[in-house]
Formats: sequence, C-alpha cells, structure tokens
Amino acid sequence: MQTEVARERLLTKAKTLKVLPSLHDIIDKVFSVLNDQNSSFDQLEDVIQYDQAICSKIMSIANSAYFCRGLKILNLHRAMVVIGFEEIKNIITCLVFLDEILKKMKLRQDHFRSLWYHSLYVAYSAKILSARTFVEDPEKTFTAALLHDVGKIILYMSYEGYGDMLLQCQEPGRDLCVEERDLFGTDHQEIGYYMGVKWRFPDEFSSVIRNHHTAKGGGQQDMLLRLVRIADRFASHPDENLGMEGLILLKEKEKIESEIGRIMELLGMANEKG
Ligand SMILES: [Fe+2]
Ligand SMILES: [Fe+2]
Repeated sequence: MQTEVARERLLTKAKTLKVLPSLHDIIDKVFSVLNDQNSSFDQLEDVIQYDQAICSKIMSIANSAYFCRGLKILNLHRAMVVIGFEEIKNIITCLVFLDEILKKMKLRQDHFRSLWYHSLYVAYSAKILSARTFVEDPEKTFTAALLHDVGKIILYMSYEGYGDMLLQCQEPGRDLCVEERDLFGTDHQEIGYYMGVKWRFPDEFSSVIRNHHTAKGGGQQDMLLRLVRIADRFASHPDENLGMEGLILLKEKEKIESEIGRIMELLGMANEKG
C-alpha cells in the first residue's frame, strides 16, 4: 500500500514537472533536427539562431582557445563552421540536457555531478559503439544515451537517500530497478518514460528510457536500445563480460574519458567530475 502511494506520487511528479514553456519548443525543434539523419547545417542554424543561450554559448566555444586560431569569430554561421557539424550536434544536445533540464531541476551539486558524468559516459560509449558497429546513427545514439537516466532526477529530488542507494546498487548481485520498485513501487525507467512523454521526446528515446535495464532483442528500434544498454552496463561495470561490444569499449576507454574531458572543457565544466 505504501509503495502504491509512493508510486502514484512519483509518477504524478514526472507527469506534471514544471518546465519553462520555451523548453518544449527548444526540445521539439532541436531533437527533430538532431534526430533527422539528413538534417543540414542550415536547418540546424535556423533552429538555434533564435535561442539566445545556445547561440551565445556556441559563439564563446568557437572563440575559446580550443578552436580560435587568433581570429575573432563574430557570427553564428562562422562559429558553426569552425566547430564542425558533428561537434555542434553534440554540444547542443549537451547544452539542452545540462542547461534546460539538469540545471533547472536544481539538484544537489554532488547528485547533479554524478548524473551528468554518468550520462556523458554512457553517451560517448554508446556513440563509439554505434560508429564502430554501423547499426545506428552515432549522433542519435548519443542523444538517446545522454537522456537514458532522466528519471533519476525525480528520485534524487524526492528521496534524500537516493544517491547512496545508487552507489550501493553498484555492488555485485544487486539490481537497482528491483530495489527501486520494492521501495517506491516504480523505477527510474518508468518515471523517465513519463517525463519523456511530457517533454515530447521522440518515441524512440522514450522507449530507450523505459527499457534500458530490461532484456529485449531484434528489430531496428531495439538496436538503439541495445547500444545504450551495453554502454550503460559498461559505465557501471567495465570488467563485466559484455561480449564483443564490451571488448570494443574496453579498448576505447581512454578515448571515451578524453572525449568527456574535452566536452566538459568546452562547456566550461572542467571541474565537474562525477
Ligand atoms: Fe538506468
Ligand atoms: Fe545509467
């Protein structure tokens, strides 16, 4: 009975979580462009030129020591050319997740950091896996993976001991979702699914969020799910036997970590390790 009440309370929070009205528009437009494999540089520029926060961040990244070769970059188009199409897609995805979702939810600093670092780790691992296995578009995989644990936000906000629970559930033989369901009558997959629906994430992303800890197979849509699931397992248990994909990730571990360091530096978050 108690878990039923907890479940009801958590799912209601997921379905009614207040976000700025503009977030819907940004997510709608950005994801539809990012999700389209044929999207062009101009389409992406069209979407972001109206978002001041994203625009100014991109200008400052293009003018950072990393990209700037002495010439000051003064317009968005030039900034996007300097940074490059694929990199811009990753940066925008991270900015939407970081500024529009994580920061607005006002999580405690240590919780914010560990969710951010874990999400980035899974995103880069899944992206590398998808680029190496050719089964899914790497940028789409990156976005879906970055968002896979979005449901944890509600649990962090609602349950003081959730950070400790996450750490304890990394021990062998423990299953986070089972323990969440025992305690709350629901898990971060189901909660995240309702957030994804409310925030109008593409259906494929909501499906990944809902099923990334469950065993499923086959089908094109499930390839995305499979990549995120393996990347997520690898992030928590790099020594576990994860077959060929696990071996690829083990070999690329240093690259994954250096990519995370690089994006953190670009976003001005170099000290925000998990
Ligand atoms: Fe998860
Ligand atoms: Fe995860």
